[in-house]
Amino acid sequence: MREVAIVGIGCTKFGEMWDKSFRDLFIEAGLMALADARVSGAQIEALYGGNMSSGIFLEQEHVGALIADYSGLTANNVPSTRVEAACASGGLALRSGVIAVASGYHDVVISAGIEKMTDVGAEKAMDALAAAADREWEAAVGATFPGLYAMMARAHMHEFGTTREQLAQVAVKNHYNGSMNPRAQFRNRITIETVVNSPLVADPLRLFDCSPITDGAAAVVLVPAARAKEFTDTPIYIKAAAQASDSISLHDRRSLTSIDATTVAADRAFKMTKLQRSKIDVAEVHDCFTIAEIMAIEDLGFFEKGAGGPATIAGETAIGGKIPINPSGGLKACGHPVGATGVKQAVEIVEQLRGDAGKRQVDGAEVGLTHNVGGTGGTVVVHILAR
Ligand code: COA
Repeated sequence: MREVAIVGIGCTKFGEMWDKSFRDLFIEAGLMALADARVSGAQIEALYGGNMSSGIFLEQEHVGALIADYSGLTANNVPSTRVEAACASGGLALRSGVIAVASGYHDVVISAGIEKMTDVGAEKAMDALAAAADREWEAAVGATFPGLYAMMARAHMHEFGTTREQLAQVAVKNHYNGSMNPRAQFRNRITIETVVNSPLVADPLRLFDCSPITDGAAAVVLVPAARAKEFTDTPIYIKAAAQASDSISLHDRRSLTSIDATTVAADRAFKMTKLQRSKIDVAEVHDCFTIAEIMAIEDLGFFEKGAGGPATIAGETAIGGKIPINPSGGLKACGHPVGATGVKQAVEIVEQLRGDAGKRQVDGAEVGLTHNVGGTGGTVVVHILAR
């Protein structure tokens, strides 16, 4: 297998993009990534596009062909593949591109993620997202994503004594980080009171415990590490691209308070790199709800089980803390265009490792990790990146 490097990144602003179409968004992110890598469309050999649900959000399927067509890549009949794994679609598109380059099948590949979620009403968006759960056993009987994560939160509070304030602090930190990110959907700083007094969504989760409904796209250009310096002076190397699956429904899981696929994907990734957890300087994790970040930092092995809430309150996951988590603002504040999130996480880590993250820069970051979850943990993708 060949080592793979990211040599170009692009990401749109995240939010309610009323003035931009699905096509505008992926063209914008793709062009930014190509310009950053100083490559032309003619050099692209393959494209992987993460997208969860354009069929429901836009009544548009066959998204691989659509992206290739409107990006001008049909001139060379570039192979273009849509990748779908619910909210982990972007992470999986990245991993698919890495495998294509590592295997020697292609040299210059673009991995992208895209979702346009705000063109439908809240009920339809909620129903589209519920399709990432088990439709027969969960969604059909009324379980929404906030509802499923609320059950995990209640179980975590019961088992480990995780408190309402500890959950809220995840959102406070991520809004603070988002306030320094020009791409973020929410750039307002909040307090614990903002979170605990916001409207109840699914007990104990309130509005500010939830990631929002978002439009956005992100893209990266991948090449063999041996060729990286042809494209950029600051390549970022992909040291591991790991993936794990688990049962799609919560009731078949070993535990409600851990996502086992996270633990397995992380173990696989760290085995590939032969690095210790302590070597990770910065991580972007899947905080679709505040409880999800607390479980992620425990299941990834950064903190003992049950220690995620206290560590968050103690500031250990803030920029400047023991392990800065979600400097972009995470899904909570930067936004969560589901198919794009996994690629945006990689874009943020590349900026951090290049030292280009501005006010939210983690000083001296050399190794970073991304963690992208599909559904409640049926799919997890973990990447480790290094300077
Ligand atoms: N955090 C903070 N503020 C939010 C927000 C969020 N997650 N979502 C919406 N808002 C704000 C809006 O900006 C708006 O503010 P304004 O009145 O000042 O303009 C207000 O709340 C109402 O927005 P609206 O879009 O009507 O909210 P909603 O009630 O339709 O949706 C949620 C709120 C939480 C239900 C929705 O964001 C949601 O479903 N989130 C979860 C998404 C999800 O499950 N993703 C997949 C996870 S795996």
